[in-house]
Amino acid sequence: MNPTIDLLLTRRSVSANALGEPGPSAEELELILRSAARVPDHKKLVPWRFVVFQGDARAAFGAVLANVCRAEEKDPGAFRLENEAKRFLRAPLVIAVISRVVKNPAAPEWEQILSAGAACQNLIVAATALGYGAQWITEWCAYSAGVRAALPLAENERVAGFVYIGTPKEKPDERDRPKLADIVAPWQP
Ligand SMILES: Cc1cc2nc3c(=O)[nH]c(=O)nc-3n(C[C@H](O)[C@H](O)[C@H](O)COP(=O)(O)O)c2cc1C
Repeated sequence: MNPTIDLLLTRRSVSANALGEPGPSAEELELILRSAARVPDHKKLVPWRFVVFQGDARAAFGAVLANVCRAEEKDPGAFRLENEAKRFLRAPLVIAVISRVVKNPAAPEWEQILSAGAACQNLIVAATALGYGAQWITEWCAYSAGVRAALPLAENERVAGFVYIGTPKEKPDERDRPKLADIVAPWQP
């Protein structure tokens, strides 16, 4: 079997809770990010950027998440706040993929957002190819005004996803996939 096809046909996301040390080395991280920065990009607008969370930055961002949660939610409770503080500690590496849309008549917003989604997927595929597990997660933090301000994001930016990467602690079970017959059809006039 062709190794790329094999990877695409067998890849499974590994839940962030099942990702442990070690994370990618600096060299591997560069390969993963370069893979993500090679996605199709109509008009070379570079409609994405990446924010990397490793080491102590994960706990520091967790403190931000707990503060934002306290400010935005009614009575979150100590358990929830503790979980927020630990959210980015679930994996050794978290990469925020930021979609950044610019005005361009030849490449509408929709195409630029799709390109950011492709960047998320390339991060996952590259990490998986290097033997790591990965999961694309949004959760509440991708949509929170407080988290937007803390990252910080510009007006034209949005979180496309937080991609968690680490060593799988367990092999995920297979997941049902759609039957091609249900989603593929020849075009008929
Ligand atoms: C845009 C986007 C956001 C997602 N957000 C979450 C999330 O917040 N929490 C979660 O458990 N899975 C989320 N997922 C689903 C996982 O990334 C993943 O697809 C799922 O665990 C199934 O695994 P698979 O990739 O092996 O099919 C999201 C997927 C996408 C495309």
